[in-house]
Amino acid sequence: MKILKFSIFFLLISAFILSGNVFAAEGKTYKNLKPGFSFEGPFGKFDKESLKRGYQVYSEVCSSCHGMKQLSFRNLSQSGGPEFSPEKVKAIASDYLIIDGADEYGEPIERSMLPSDHFPKPFNNKEEAKAANNGAYPPDLSLIVKARVDGYNYLYSLLMGYEEEMPDDMDIGDLSYNPWYPGGAIAMYQPLYDESVEYEDGTPATINQMSYDVTNFLAWASEPTMEERKRLGFIVMGFLFIFLILMFLSVNKLFKDVH
Ligand code: HEC
Repeated sequence: MKILKFSIFFLLISAFILSGNVFAAEGKTYKNLKPGFSFEGPFGKFDKESLKRGYQVYSEVCSSCHGMKQLSFRNLSQSGGPEFSPEKVKAIASDYLIIDGADEYGEPIERSMLPSDHFPKPFNNKEEAKAANNGAYPPDLSLIVKARVDGYNYLYSLLMGYEEEMPDDMDIGDLSYNPWYPGGAIAMYQPLYDESVEYEDGTPATINQMSYDVTNFLAWASEPTMEERKRLGFIVMGFLFIFLILMFLSVNKLFKDVH
């Protein structure tokens, strides 16, 4: 009886863990694509060149609808990220304007953004964002990779996953068909097409390459200090290991004469 209860519990837990990975759209089962990212695993690090390209995709394509409110421009130059030079970050920030206070007549003062400013918001409020997007709200992308199960593989699959052909009995109205989106009908039109951007480093901008790069960038954005965390993890593990050996030796010594 105990074993039966345990197996049911185990099955339920596995079903719960696996459920996010597999979406059933109209009878077909889609598993997230797994292109393999350099930051996976305990030794994984971000691919800086891909992060730079990913920022370009975000800023030229996604930022017209999606904000990244947790990030400041200066994060782009910190170690463990795309590591743009501080001069480049200054130049990137200064392309945007922000209203900062009012003058003596109460008129708003507009100034160029600084590296310490947060990324600009594409819309003033939720209502405006919805009105511009068929009633659907484009979520902030700073934490989206953490907010979805199997986040980065899901994001990559979603961007790669727009399909023309959909099941005959499906009516999605103005929405787009994407079997990786739960339910299959998403209010975001396909955002990436070949050559949507012209990469500064000359890499060919295929849908695959851009999806990969922007996924890398958003994975970094959701945890800009990942490399630091992994490094610290290793130092702690190393310390614990040495501590374990010391304990083992001292216990051996202490109990040497006890029989
Ligand atoms: C024209 C506006 C627009 C652009 C450009 C755009 N999106 Fe979206 N996006 C939306 C809207 C609207 C939604 C909400 C979809 C829904 O609720 O059906 C959305 C939803 C999403 C989601 C959430 C999906 C989920 O599981 O809930 C992600 C992730 C996303 N977009 C990523 C991107 C990325 C990455 C880019 C750039 C390559 C991009 N978007 C470009 C409008 C846009």
